[in-house]
Amino acid sequence: MNFPETESRLFFHTYKRLPLEVVRGEGCMLFTKDGRQYLDMFSGLAVNALGYAHPAVIAAVNEQMHRYTHLSNFFIQEPQLLLAERLLRHSGYDKVFFTNSGTEAIEGTIKLVRKWGKGSGRRMIFGMSNGFSGRTMGALSLMDKEKYRDGYEPFLPYFGSITFNDAEDLEAKVGPDTAAVFLEFIQGEGGIIGVTPAFIARLVTLREKYGFLIVADEIQSGIGRTGRMFGFQHFPVAPDIVTVAKPIGGGLPLGAILGSKAVADVWTYGVHGTTFGGNPVACAAGIATIDAVMTDEFLAAVRDNAAYFKAKVEALGARFPFIKEVRAYGYMIGIDLAMESQTAVDKMRDRGVLVNSTAVSVIRILPPLIAGRAEFDRLLAVMEEVFAGLSSH
Ligand SMILES: Cc1ncc(COP(=O)(O)O)c(C=O)c1O
Repeated sequence: MNFPETESRLFFHTYKRLPLEVVRGEGCMLFTKDGRQYLDMFSGLAVNALGYAHPAVIAAVNEQMHRYTHLSNFFIQEPQLLLAERLLRHSGYDKVFFTNSGTEAIEGTIKLVRKWGKGSGRRMIFGMSNGFSGRTMGALSLMDKEKYRDGYEPFLPYFGSITFNDAEDLEAKVGPDTAAVFLEFIQGEGGIIGVTPAFIARLVTLREKYGFLIVADEIQSGIGRTGRMFGFQHFPVAPDIVTVAKPIGGGLPLGAILGSKAVADVWTYGVHGTTFGGNPVACAAGIATIDAVMTDEFLAAVRDNAAYFKAKVEALGARFPFIKEVRAYGYMIGIDLAMESQTAVDKMRDRGVLVNSTAVSVIRILPPLIAGRAEFDRLLAVMEEVFAGLSSH
């Protein structure tokens, strides 16, 4: 079968696919049909926290598949309970609702926030400029990027966008009619950009003044990716609601909304639901993932390896002045170049290392959380070679 030709015949053309025919993955490596191997340093866009074919995930999925793969949410299901218990214990939140994906976690949260604000005149919901919340209409309503929104108008009413990290804009827009402010404390798709202390401080003060909810989108940055359970834990803030997805299903589709007591009672029987959300096999894989990731030792290794890598790339800056900035929050790493990053990404792939290009000029690196010094050293060696090639042109 000719992969590209068959794909182009069968599918809506929404994805620009990589020219690789993957047959198998193991650890941080992917193996292709033509016998090549690739070090995968973007891990299914931050999904494969434990890499490929992790024994604990395989065992958990196998065992659950033999028990039941689906019952429906009419049933109380042990894997859901065990994963919920872990998520709440590690995070300190009070309640969880399981979804299938990130955008559904966002969508559900928009509904939760709407209901929470009903009757008090709190209708306005804000997202951040340059943010990414997903592809459903609610998620798009939170976003400002034309690239994702063009042609899908009209969006939901009573939504607005605040300029990310602009405390004056935030203050000018929120008020007593604000229900919620959604944000990625570390923007992923936007180019690995962290929130500033001044913006956080103003956000927290304004929440105290007006009483709106802060929603942390931890879909990309959550579950250990930044060397803490959540990206927001690098900042002095306690969000009211947290959305998670990507890694929590251990590679299977799963998302979740975590809420504090402030919102816990808004949802009652029948007001929201999903057929597949909280699939027991995905929850079983999620339990294996959380148990592996959420130890002090594991998270410390993520922080240490990231600091090691960041320092090495910064040192390369002396030789390659087109490296504008290196931003690293654990294994959420962005190398901002003074040129489009796609060429470097393609050349690295030709040399067997997979990374991603985002925000035009940023090389985005989202390694499996099991990646260690050896993987970062290989990535560095290949990147140095590619950068040397780029600077000689
Ligand atoms: C921060 C953030 N929010 C939401 C989403 C949407 O998640 P999903 O693709 O699972 O719908 C993503 C996906 O990249 C994301 O990075």
